[in-house]
Amino acid sequence: MVEKIRQIKEQFEADLKGVQGPADLEALRVKYLSRKGLVAQLFEQLKAVAPPDRPSVGRSLNELRAFVQNLFDSKNVTAAVDSRVPGIDRSLPGRPRPLGTKHPLTQTIGELKRIFAGMGFGVAVGPDIEDEYHNFTALNFPPEHPARDMQDTFFISKNILLRTHTSPVQIRVMKSQKPPVRVIMPGRVYRNEAVSARSHVLFHQLEGLYVDRHVTMSELKGTLVSFAHQYYGSSVKYKFRPTFFPFTEPSADMYISCFLCNQKGCAICKYNGWLEILGSGMVHPNVLKHGGYDPERYSGFAFGMGIERMALLRYGIDDIRLYFENDIRFLKQF
Ligand code: PHE
Repeated sequence: MVEKIRQIKEQFEADLKGVQGPADLEALRVKYLSRKGLVAQLFEQLKAVAPPDRPSVGRSLNELRAFVQNLFDSKNVTAAVDSRVPGIDRSLPGRPRPLGTKHPLTQTIGELKRIFAGMGFGVAVGPDIEDEYHNFTALNFPPEHPARDMQDTFFISKNILLRTHTSPVQIRVMKSQKPPVRVIMPGRVYRNEAVSARSHVLFHQLEGLYVDRHVTMSELKGTLVSFAHQYYGSSVKYKFRPTFFPFTEPSADMYISCFLCNQKGCAICKYNGWLEILGSGMVHPNVLKHGGYDPERYSGFAFGMGIERMALLRYGIDDIRLYFENDIRFLKQF
């Protein structure tokens, strides 16, 4: 048995010399180290060895296995093998692989998710192709109401459209889960606008919804102020201004002090020192009803912000069309 072990070791050393490339090396590994390989066969035969001799034979077997294994593992073997492969020069630098980057909008959505996750918000999504009920009716837009015109809509058929905002996802979330809910809902939205540096037919929004017992407007403010401080910096000032949305009552637009000019006045803030960053409000009772929630028991707040604009302010991008042109010179700056 001891003799056999010695033979296998010699045979291995001889085989190793003949290795020409990675394929030979793999064949060698299979021959010696696989489950049915020569080394494993020797271990099988150990059973037949007389009990008093077993420990010492076992030890030399283990040594053999370690020896073979070591040669495979060591860089020497791979180097020796590669240097024998014609056409491979290991001293040359490797071919660089161009690495992509995340789109600035994806990066922004990721950061928004992180900030809101820190305040206990989960994430939900809904379809880009919506029906008129979720996009308007369930959100308390009466039929023929002029508020529907605030969002110039691409209709696919009489009742099917490209969603004009992410607010319909509020309804889908409420219909699919019981309160309390605390979610953000990012996604694409579509409006029939003339394409220019400031507006596009396609953009992204981030919707937020929090419904529970006794949710108040002060929680809306606390949440959004905390968000603004985390995203734009703790030194920004803010204000809320009353506005109208059919699906919230009361409703408020949130503004932050223009951090680009420090409120001295610039083209971005249109020389008034304030930037509008989002719309928000307390969820209208009719909307809670459409979601299947009892407005006598539950209250909540919602908000919606445009993501292009946030990234635009953050990175100083001056033309919204750049986001969708897939120009590598633009994308690789992020
Ligand atoms: N959906 C509104 C818009 O697109 C924004 C909004 C969302 C306002 C939620 C209030 C509450 O303009």
